Amino acid sequence: MELVTTFAAARHLASGVVGLVPTMGFLHEGHLALADAARPAADTVVMSLFVNPLQFGEGEDLASYPRDLARDAALATTAGVDVLFAPPLDEMYPDGTVTTVRVAGLTERMEGRERPGHFEGVATIVAKLFAGVKPDLAFFGRKDAQQLAVVTRMAADLSFPVECVGVPTVRDADGLALSSRNTYLDGDDRRRALALGAGLMTAADAAEQGERDGATLEGLVTAALTAAGVAADYVELVSRGSVARLDRLDRDAFLAVAARVGPARLIDNVHFDVGPGGEVSADRGVRLGSPSALAPGRAP
Ligand code: PAF
Repeated sequence: MELVTTFAAARHLASGVVGLVPTMGFLHEGHLALADAARPAADTVVMSLFVNPLQFGEGEDLASYPRDLARDAALATTAGVDVLFAPPLDEMYPDGTVTTVRVAGLTERMEGRERPGHFEGVATIVAKLFAGVKPDLAFFGRKDAQQLAVVTRMAADLSFPVECVGVPTVRDADGLALSSRNTYLDGDDRRRALALGAGLMTAADAAEQGERDGATLEGLVTAALTAAGVAADYVELVSRGSVARLDRLDRDAFLAVAARVGPARLIDNVHFDVGPGGEVSADRGVRLGSPSALAPGRAP
């Protein structure tokens, strides 16, 4: 694996079908699943690693976001990444930023409402990666479902010749969706955080057994959070492509939740595929067989 710090070097090393795995580092099994999806589909797997200041709001965790390049480089090598592109700030934003990318509509709900400016930061950095690395395929976790919708729409609207591929969420052995931010959770917060995944699993079961009412499905998640003493920022059933609120589960959709648990702000979701006869199948993600060694909460 080659570690490079400039767009030019990353492009120089990328040949054939190029698969891009954008990350902010502090890799865990969720990121490794993106590399696993990229490897068979691409001749060159380029993983980018950059903690993007533009997508963090005031008072968010930009300064404390976990960083460890040596650890990430070792994990990326094991994961079969060919090129690790870890640019410094002045390669990404040599003159600051006056040009940004805003995806209207899709960014107005949920994370866009709770984190003003966040998706403008994400769309801008991902557009820069698409322009600078020129991937054919780009792999994003379904855990960040709204982000996946935003970058897919951005790529289509700006005519980037890249296919955005969504990869199922990886869950820890206890059901918590993996996130670099899980490192902020101590024992009690970690136990309460399990309510997000548990509520979503209950809703997924209900949907597969025939429940189609959006408010009822959302209510199952809210009830799990309330029982654990966790207040949701939002619980919403939305259409997969447009991120518009759905009263009924009658098209491809995801049910998303966000909540603050102790010092961590967590998001999670389940994806629903709706077949031609209205039948529903849920993507609950993939659960690890044993506790993650890479994205643990602090030990109870
Ligand atoms: O999902 C992330 O880690 C980031 O939002 C991304 C896509 C790497 C952009 O900084």
